[in-house]
Amino acid sequence: SPLHPLLVSLPKCEHHLHLEGCLTPDLLFALSAQNQIPLPSPSTDPAFASPATLAARYTVFTSLDDFLHYYYIGFRVLVTPADFEALAWSYFLHAHTNANVRHAEVFFDPQAHTSRAIPLSTVIAGFSAAAARAQTELGMSSILIPCLLRHLPVADSAATYSALVAGDYFASGVLGGLGLCSSELAQPPQLWAPIFADANARGIRRTVHAGEEGPPAYVAAALDHLAAMRIDHGVRAAEDTELLARLAADGVMLSLCPVSNAALRVTRSVADAPVRALLAHGVKFSVNSDDPAYFGAWIQDVYCAVQDAFALTADEWAGIARVAVQGSWCGEERKGEMM
Ligand code: ADE
Ligand code: ZN
Repeated sequence: SPLHPLLVSLPKCEHHLHLEGCLTPDLLFALSAQNQIPLPSPSTDPAFASPATLAARYTVFTSLDDFLHYYYIGFRVLVTPADFEALAWSYFLHAHTNANVRHAEVFFDPQAHTSRAIPLSTVIAGFSAAAARAQTELGMSSILIPCLLRHLPVADSAATYSALVAGDYFASGVLGGLGLCSSELAQPPQLWAPIFADANARGIRRTVHAGEEGPPAYVAAALDHLAAMRIDHGVRAAEDTELLARLAADGVMLSLCPVSNAALRVTRSVADAPVRALLAHGVKFSVNSDDPAYFGAWIQDVYCAVQDAFALTADEWAGIARVAVQGSWCGEERKGEMM
């Protein structure tokens, strides 16, 4: 499309990006060697023969859980604060340089680190150092959002959430919100209601992965029971017209990841993303990358893929960019700088 250069340079906000989803096969193998952490043997999974074979395996994911299997293996090689800082810095630098991302709200999964005896303080020190450097060196603002993991018992989420509160990470502003992610189907949002009610009472912002593989009812449940202020993915909300009307009326933004959805077979292709339905119903959305190192597409590639599928006008893109700024969790002053 002739709009591609404009879409690449368009100032962006990213709202749905997992920092651990920025671990490329090359960095995975390098950190495995450096930290002497073995990867699965190629005799049990031939994908682990080399970075190239692993990248090839990433192109044929069959589901969210098939992806999550590889995603959590990747976590094993992250050990020191410097590892976490390098990973996050690689994202910030890439997003700034190649996509003109001005503001990024980024997820990470504390439980998949603490379960390997990596302290919360190690993870957060590394990620927050990279965020500070992105602000100073790139003028890029960011918000760090820990996600609780649905495939683990709720009690494990509760313990991690309590440790984050006790560590003063939210009140001090080091962390700017609370998320919920991982496997969706067997884990309805309401199971996390007590934790999210506590977060709400403390003034901690809340966002929830819902309606990715799960039904529209899980999106409604995230609003009803978790007081979610944003919905991550939410693609399947498009199946329910009443839900679309509610999202529009309440001004709830969806952080769409159309390339991720196609890669994980949530949709058949980017063209199946509910872009037209959301625009028609006045539902706010932003366009995001999710786990760029696993899906082979960074945010500028996702913008271009959406354009190839929907042929939006420059005015429609300007509207999408404005909604992304308005739906961000930065202060009004920062939003003003980005409008
Ligand atoms: N963690 C990382 N990427 C995810 C996704 N697309 N859905 C749920 N959990 C995730
Ligand atoms: Zn996600």
